[in-house]
Amino acid sequence: MKILAIESSCDETAAAVIEDGRIIRSNVIYSQAQEHALYGGVVPEIASRRHIDAICPVTEQALAEAGMQLSEVDAIAATCAPGLIGALLVGANFAKSLAWAQNKPFIPVNHIRGHIAANLLAFPELEPPFLCLSASGGSSMIVHVKDYTDMEILGGTRDDAAGEAFDKVARVLKVGYPGGPKIDKLAQTGNDKAYKLPRSSIKDAPLDFSFSGLKTAVINLAHNAEQKGEEINVNDLAASFSAAVSDTLVPRLRLAAKQTGIRRLVAAGGVAANSRLRADLEKMAKSIHAQLYMPPLALCGDNAAMIGAQAYYEYLAGATGTIWQNAFASAEISEDISQKRVFAKKHAKR
Ligand code: KG4
Repeated sequence: MKILAIESSCDETAAAVIEDGRIIRSNVIYSQAQEHALYGGVVPEIASRRHIDAICPVTEQALAEAGMQLSEVDAIAATCAPGLIGALLVGANFAKSLAWAQNKPFIPVNHIRGHIAANLLAFPELEPPFLCLSASGGSSMIVHVKDYTDMEILGGTRDDAAGEAFDKVARVLKVGYPGGPKIDKLAQTGNDKAYKLPRSSIKDAPLDFSFSGLKTAVINLAHNAEQKGEEINVNDLAASFSAAVSDTLVPRLRLAAKQTGIRRLVAAGGVAANSRLRADLEKMAKSIHAQLYMPPLALCGDNAAMIGAQAYYEYLAGATGTIWQNAFASAEISEDISQKRVFAKKHAKR
């Protein structure tokens, strides 16, 4: 089954053709990052407008690279939640319109489920159940993936997402946007013990965590140094911060493995590209004799291939959408978004 998938939840306009949830026929990404870098972060209104500019050419390219006509795909999928609502609406409506015009099934996909499914593309042998550490710009959580479409959050951030913390720290250190990759690079030549930074712990919720205290500690450190006219060693601070993020996430995944007895571990999301996190995950997995799956860097960030992979399993589970399907800024990973509240259907006069 060949699925044309569309992703537009943030600042990447992407389209891909995926076969049977596992094989990438094409994977085209147009990143708007350079434009948003001018403002130090994603400007939602600009993101929506650029999606409209880019979505047709990106989709045409994805079909051309797959050597297919639109009429030859079996279904059309799009990210429908969570994300920037204006941005999501562009991709969701575009994909719904194509599906309607072609009389093909439309499959709404949860973006975080998509990030997890990036691993299904990279590792043909990978099957649920497994535990996933999903860390991106909008969310960070430990998920028990019981089946392809049956997921439970075991723990997660109480405030900022890991990627959000990377981006904010990068802004304070004035190292540019997007912050994660810049901090990662600076950290390579820094001393991770140079700055003492806090690691969160939440009473009675050992799998939950927080990044706002860590972020504030870095901000205060930078401001105090500025006021005193002292130099900050940016590489050392980047390394100390990256270590603190990793020290927050990796032990939680280890604890989740201990609590559930599951020894198949997976990483997902933009922050899964972080070199410190990847190295620490490898060490931890080895120490508990677990199998570890981490997507190649190209599949960590937002892309439509992962949406096409997850869409296949949503389709098999019967979670197809209709022309009534809406997009949602937030959604639980456990819920079936094809069944989420449909305002228009309730209110339409016939
Ligand atoms: O998954 P993603 O592309 O978009 C969302 O779904 O949110 O994640 C983007 C986030 C950004 O916050 C970015 O700074 C972070 O992932 N990121 C990284 C790295 N590459 C991207 N964070 C740390 N280290 C990296 N190498």
